[in-house]
Amino acid sequence: MPSLSVFGAQWGDEGKGKIIDFFSENADYVVRYQGGANAGHTVVVGGEKYVLHLIPSGILHPGKVNVIGNGVAVDPFKFLEEIDELRRRGVAVDGRNLRLSAQAHVIFEHHRLIDQLSERWRGEGRIGTTGRGIGPCYADKAARTGLRVADLLDPERYRTRLRAALAEKNALIQRVHGEAPLDLSAELERCGALAGKLRPFAGDTGAEVRQAYRSGKRILFEGAQGAMLDIDSGTYPFVTSSNTGANGIPSGASFPPRDIDRAIGIAKAYCTRVGEGPFPSEQANAIGNRIREAGHEYGATTGRPRRCGWFDAVAVRYALELSGADGWIMTNLDVLTGFGSIEVAVGYRIDGRETRSWPADLASIERVEPLYESHASWTEDITGVRSFDDLPRAARDYVERVEREVGAPILMLSVGPERSQVIPRGATWKSASPAAAAPGGATRR
Ligand code: IMP
Repeated sequence: MPSLSVFGAQWGDEGKGKIIDFFSENADYVVRYQGGANAGHTVVVGGEKYVLHLIPSGILHPGKVNVIGNGVAVDPFKFLEEIDELRRRGVAVDGRNLRLSAQAHVIFEHHRLIDQLSERWRGEGRIGTTGRGIGPCYADKAARTGLRVADLLDPERYRTRLRAALAEKNALIQRVHGEAPLDLSAELERCGALAGKLRPFAGDTGAEVRQAYRSGKRILFEGAQGAMLDIDSGTYPFVTSSNTGANGIPSGASFPPRDIDRAIGIAKAYCTRVGEGPFPSEQANAIGNRIREAGHEYGATTGRPRRCGWFDAVAVRYALELSGADGWIMTNLDVLTGFGSIEVAVGYRIDGRETRSWPADLASIERVEPLYESHASWTEDITGVRSFDDLPRAARDYVERVEREVGAPILMLSVGPERSQVIPRGATWKSASPAAAAPGGATRR
């Protein structure tokens, strides 16, 4: 009875939205387990573009149950806005196809404000967060001062807990950051109507998903951000505040680790990062600019230009290992068309010593000099190619070289934003295909 984890194997923005949408077709449940509206999953269906921040991409497929698990930091206004927008565009959304964990922590105005003020406070050392209140919300969760969806549903409890939270946060906002405090009655008023709006969606989603798995339903876990932004294993402190790979599922979806049957990482044919922090294969030059323009590398959530660079096999190998991935999917291969020469980081030199392993300490990562291997590029338009053998020779060589270097099978290639723009991999596809890995052993498309 299969469950499948699909997660980002770089610094986020790997094109997960499209791939999760692809797998959703064969899933019964699509489950978010971490992050919040800092994510931006873009899905293009029939020329229509949808950008989802909080609601799982499975919502675009009728008949799927979409779950926001207890590990997600939920901005209730964004949640309701996204529902309204989907309904406006003709997508049916109700308490049957969208479930919200009553245990999920809620992002309030004070979280957003403190996120932004903390960034200002850090100055040069800022993280470059999305400013969506993610870090402060998770900090309150760990400090046991946060409010959960269940608290919002109980007006008396909600008032008491928000009053207590704001008393402390206002002291911080005023005395440390020198800004005007938030007004408790305005906040209570603003959030007053939420209970009625959230109630139809709220429940014990962990129990629902476990029960669904036991009864043979196919569960797809939708990761947000990427492994290199993982709070424990990423480039700390330049990370997001959750566990982004399959490692986040047991706690963030209340799902037993042994029942995660398969894991598939997603990585672009090159690499990007938004915000601050180490990025060994970054090309802060004309090459990076060219990748950015060719790949439209601007944030789906914040619109920020993404930092761009070459594919980093060391980082992706590490990311896949962390989640025990069965294989991975390479996205945006078409973006590298016409580049002349393409580089791949196959190892690092740190203080004169060469390594193929990801260094655990941030100080080393900052001193990394990538060891590159050059590849010829191709000039043909590959966006219409649907079979690996029809790719230009140079593209096939690039994919195979990267696959060998990463040491895990590439199960599929993506060559454009549309659902249909994918290339299954020949022999690899048959032996370890997403069809086999997909919930329910989906049939190949
Ligand atoms: P936060 O998650 O808003 O706290 O931001 C922390 C770091 O994660 C920053 O570098 C963000 O740019 C990055 N980040 C958060 N969400 C995403 C995402 O969905 N894609 C790419 N980077 C992200």
